[in-house]
Amino acid sequence: MIRHAQQVALVEHGDPAAAAGAEPASDEHIAPAPRVSMQAFCESVETAAAVQAASEDRRMVKAHVKIQMGGATAAAEAYRNSPTPNVILIESESRADDILMNLDRLAEVCDPGTRVIVIGRINDVGFYRDLTKRGISDYLIAPVQPLDIVRGVCGLFSQPDTKPVGRVIAVVGAKGGVGASTVAHNVGFAIARDLALDSVVTDLDLPFGTAGLDFNQDPPQGIADAVFSPDRVDINFVDRLMSKCTDHLSLLAAPATLDRVYDFGAEAFDGVLDALRANIPCVVLDVPHQWSAWTKRVLVSADEILVVAAPDLANLRNAKNIADMLKASRPNDRRPFYCLNQVGIPKKPEISTADFAKALEDDPVVTIPFEPQLFGTAANNGQMIAEVSASHKTADMFRLLAQVMTGRAEVKRSRGGLLSLGMLGKLMQRKS
Ligand SMILES: Nc1ncnc2c1ncn2[C@@H]1O[C@H](COP(=O)(O)OP(=O)(O)O)[C@@H](O)[C@H]1O
Ligand SMILES: [Mg+2]
Repeated sequence: MIRHAQQVALVEHGDPAAAAGAEPASDEHIAPAPRVSMQAFCESVETAAAVQAASEDRRMVKAHVKIQMGGATAAAEAYRNSPTPNVILIESESRADDILMNLDRLAEVCDPGTRVIVIGRINDVGFYRDLTKRGISDYLIAPVQPLDIVRGVCGLFSQPDTKPVGRVIAVVGAKGGVGASTVAHNVGFAIARDLALDSVVTDLDLPFGTAGLDFNQDPPQGIADAVFSPDRVDINFVDRLMSKCTDHLSLLAAPATLDRVYDFGAEAFDGVLDALRANIPCVVLDVPHQWSAWTKRVLVSADEILVVAAPDLANLRNAKNIADMLKASRPNDRRPFYCLNQVGIPKKPEISTADFAKALEDDPVVTIPFEPQLFGTAANNGQMIAEVSASHKTADMFRLLAQVMTGRAEVKRSRGGLLSLGMLGKLMQRKS
């Protein structure tokens, strides 16, 4: 489907923030492309570079992308004697009738299932109409940003006219014991209860995970059954492994047993995460604090990341390393969110929020105080903070995190460097 002229014009002018090198907005949710082959025929080096960058985007890891120069002519030539890939992307700087003529030549050799995306410089409704008539899937106006291409390619494979489901939110600690799991579970709970989004908390800490304890559930099956039988994984199979916590919240629990060891390959969780992502609007991953091929892959491929850090030096260093690594691996995404937790332990010297903000070049979304009574009660009762005390300010923080991580609230810096928290923040300020 061709985009409407208005949308195309938006692509052309681009997001001024993105053009200025600012971080892309996090409220846009692009579902990853499946295992498809794509060949791009570019005319300009700028577009070739954008396609190259797009092919390295986390949402395109499964796509197999080849790039060559030569535009529409080269494309028509290339497929005279060989089958066409799933997607052909063609850049053409020519006049409209030249482009259309080359597309007609290509059509003669194109397999029926192949989708074609065109990148050109012509902004004209009549031309769009001619492209539509030829069954062109999308038209992007040059110059294009990597994310325009990611959006275009991934859009071909998500359901038309439906919002893609399955926003994956990964929560990880900058150190062990900083409360990452507690935050993950409470944020998942708030997403389900306060935003009424169907969600699943997925405990990836197979030997020691606490999600079952925290939600007071002892399911006979869980994530291990999926990870150890990858051939059987589909949503029906995974569905049977989940236990229901609340109206909108399910749990995919860790076995938390030591009768086997858990040495996973990089792609061990791909199958189960794909099944969840394709069927459940919000997937909260409780990622254990470790650094391995699979934890890195899970973090890099998540839609949103929340790093939980306690206010000490080791946490500061690790949080910065995690944020820098993820920023570098995800150039088309916002840098990971982070929050501080267990702040204000009596007599314990701390690194200030300002120092964290400076090192991480970002403010924490929230700063959660150390509240041993409240958190201890919740943990021992198998309850969430909002169940122990719905009106506690910490419960508000989890609600705010839920909004931010699902793209419902934006985190903006005010001029003073403090966060402006939008609606919920104002609500919280009114209360206190
Ligand atoms: N803000 C807090 N105040 C007091 N205790 C907390 C707080 N956050 C977490 N905890 C407690 O810290 C311990 C470790 O939490 P956990 O979520 O298991 O950490 P992680 O997953 O980072 O290893 C738990 O006993 C939990 O109840
Ligand atoms: Mg944990």
